[in-house]
Amino acid sequence: MDDQTRPASVQTIAAQAFAAQERITNAVIPPIHMSATFLRDADNGYAKGYVYGRTDNLSVQQAERLMTSLEGADEALLFGSGMAAATAIFLALDKPVHIVASQVMYWGFRSWLRQISRYGHSVTFVETSDLDAVRAAVRPGETGLFWIETPSNPLWTITDVAAVAEIAHACDAVLCVDSTVATPIFTRPLALGADIVMHSATKYLNGHSDVIAGALCVARQDHLWERIRRTRGQLGSALGGFEAWLLMRGMRTLDVRVRRQAQTAASLAARLSGHPALSAVLYPGLEQHAGHAVALRQMTGGFGGMLSIRVENGELAAIAVAASVQLWKRATSFGGIESLIEHRASIEGEGSPCPGDLLRLSVGLENADDLYLDLKRALDVAA
Ligand SMILES: Cc1ncc(COP(=O)(O)O)c(C=O)c1O
Repeated sequence: MDDQTRPASVQTIAAQAFAAQERITNAVIPPIHMSATFLRDADNGYAKGYVYGRTDNLSVQQAERLMTSLEGADEALLFGSGMAAATAIFLALDKPVHIVASQVMYWGFRSWLRQISRYGHSVTFVETSDLDAVRAAVRPGETGLFWIETPSNPLWTITDVAAVAEIAHACDAVLCVDSTVATPIFTRPLALGADIVMHSATKYLNGHSDVIAGALCVARQDHLWERIRRTRGQLGSALGGFEAWLLMRGMRTLDVRVRRQAQTAASLAARLSGHPALSAVLYPGLEQHAGHAVALRQMTGGFGGMLSIRVENGELAAIAVAASVQLWKRATSFGGIESLIEHRASIEGEGSPCPGDLLRLSVGLENADDLYLDLKRALDVAA
């Protein structure tokens, strides 16, 4: 490929993602489109294609175009939350199917899937890092959808996307990947054979903990995708214009943010390993992590900004560590600029499969030594 034909890289597309210049002022940054409705033309039509705000919003479309580029997708759709995006797929299926899903995944979505039978579907949860278990879960003629999350909350289990795509496609099923933690910077699931990628855009894509949003990105626009689009319009679950504008602002710096966060996470994982107060450090970038070999193959340029630690003395000691750090903020969610620490079992509640001694760490953009020393101080006390 010569210099003339080389397409712009995603970093360049993201950095310059201001779509169209605003023609009245020549503003470099586009305005926020908030109109709920649009004027009809003299001939009673809508030649510009914008009719009503529930389905048509230019700020949303501009952010969707950037999302499409980031994932190398055919098209992307933005939703009012990650949950709205994920559930739209299942609400759009036109007949009852059997679903094979990761056992370890975001608890809120797992809870929703557990009651999927009310929509006529059935689900089998398996350890999707174990490909034999995935194959064994298939019900020929019934399995229509695979749902995997990789790296998955909160153990950062790695599932081999290409291998599961092969299993899914052998039974004519669709593979959906929750790639929220990996981000398009470290994994491109569509290039590995997935059909739909889902993101809680609330996390790294926006990156500033000030927007709730979700995204779906599709490899090829097909019948299911058209139904998803229609479902979003009918349910009114699209993202709003202001949130889309903020999300686009966030996505433009995604590359630099997540690379730095992954770098800091890797250094913390290495430095915390072997601390006497800890029984385990879970991070896919560590050689001892069960998914490391697949992660090395599947993740390019980093292993993400999320890690978990397990506190030797159990649940109360873990909660005490979370309560005694100063820089790490004690809150749920992840992927923002500020580092967060969370005792996951407390938020997941009764019946949670999350170990009680586990603390989830979302690494932000603070200085790596500051973060390490703050945590080490709390762990030294626990030890
Ligand atoms: C991996 C993952 N997927 C999906 C979701 C749901 O996204 P949202 O909170 O934007 O609805 C979350 C939320 O924490 C998540 O962590």
